[in-house]
Amino acid sequence: MKQVLVLGGSGFVGGHVCEKLVRAGYRVTVITRKAVHARCVMHLPGLTVLESNIHDEAALGRAMAGMDAVINLVAILHGSPAAFVHVHQDLPAKIARACVATGVAQLVHISALGMNTAPAQTAPSNYLRSKAVGERLLADTLGWGQGGTGACGLTVLRPSVIFGANDKFLNVFARLQAVFPVMPLAGADARFQPVWVEDVASAVLQSLAQGLGQGPAMQVYELAGPQVYTLRQLVQFAARSSGIAQGRGRPVVGLPLWMGRIQAFVLGLMPGEPVMSQDNLDSMRLDNVVTGSLPGLEALGIAPSTLEAIGPQYLFPDPATQGLLGLRNRHR
Ligand SMILES: NC(=O)c1ccc[n+]([C@@H]2O[C@H](COP(=O)([O-])OP(=O)(O)OC[C@H]3O[C@@H](n4cnc5c(N)ncnc54)[C@H](OP(=O)(O)O)[C@@H]3O)[C@@H](O)[C@H]2O)c1
Repeated sequence: MKQVLVLGGSGFVGGHVCEKLVRAGYRVTVITRKAVHARCVMHLPGLTVLESNIHDEAALGRAMAGMDAVINLVAILHGSPAAFVHVHQDLPAKIARACVATGVAQLVHISALGMNTAPAQTAPSNYLRSKAVGERLLADTLGWGQGGTGACGLTVLRPSVIFGANDKFLNVFARLQAVFPVMPLAGADARFQPVWVEDVASAVLQSLAQGLGQGPAMQVYELAGPQVYTLRQLVQFAARSSGIAQGRGRPVVGLPLWMGRIQAFVLGLMPGEPVMSQDNLDSMRLDNVVTGSLPGLEALGIAPSTLEAIGPQYLFPDPATQGLLGLRNRHR
């Protein structure tokens, strides 16, 4: 039975990946900063949760001993420039060094669409810049830089925005529209090609199996759904699918960039994860759609699902599970 270490297995995509790994017969270990974060996967049969400091290279090496493969799903969407470097650059470099030191055969790394249209240094946001540099560090450290041949296989998956039950994207826009009568929206014309979380998880499994089966190689895939939408269309879709205002949704008012920046500043002062940060606005200056120059889901044998088929299945609100917002939904 192949052994797989998953970093970020407690997250949105991680839960789906872990479930598929267990079903496919892998022995899975999820390494997490706090065991309680992994409660959504700890019930999976045979899955081990390991609480550790994943930024400690020696601890990473210990966790990787005996593993056939490593999957890295760790990322942040908000934070200081230093935090982006720490999580998206320093950590992948440590993971790569630990993979080499421990003889791991295959590393699957989840990156993001959008950084490949420009050299890393010129990407418009901390998120995209650090993701791009992280990819390069991985390739170089594993020996795949400048046409080299690494000892450890590397698959990089670059998804567009990911949708699915519990996503923090369409669900958030649906909840906001349940509360506010109007949706002021910065970056309304930014373009995305949303991909279903189950398709992303299948891509992880497929690339893992290929990598372990074929011997070391480096592959990069762009993961996206069949259709491109503007952010405005996605916000309207979220409202329609969740029945806001009898399915009509709220008026969406596009904000100019300067107003969007003020909105992001104010949101950033509030407790919890901001809905939209300055850095998110910067990321949206690049289209989040496939370039077409790299293989996609189809190359992994996966037919991408449409947003129209999946979205309404999880966006329609269940008032019993929505707390105070549920109260409002019931009286809408
Ligand atoms: N969701 C999307 O729409 C989307 C789009 C494009 C690309 N992606 C990429 O897909 C991957 C998975 O995304 P996701 O949405 O599943 O992310 P997520 O739900 O936010 O989970 C990310 C995981 O990273 C770990 N993590 C967060 N901050 C950390 C830190 N400072 N140090 C160490 N670990 C930390 C957390 O694990 P613990 O708390 O257990 O330690 C968490 O489970 C990421 O690489 C992301 O960039 C996502």
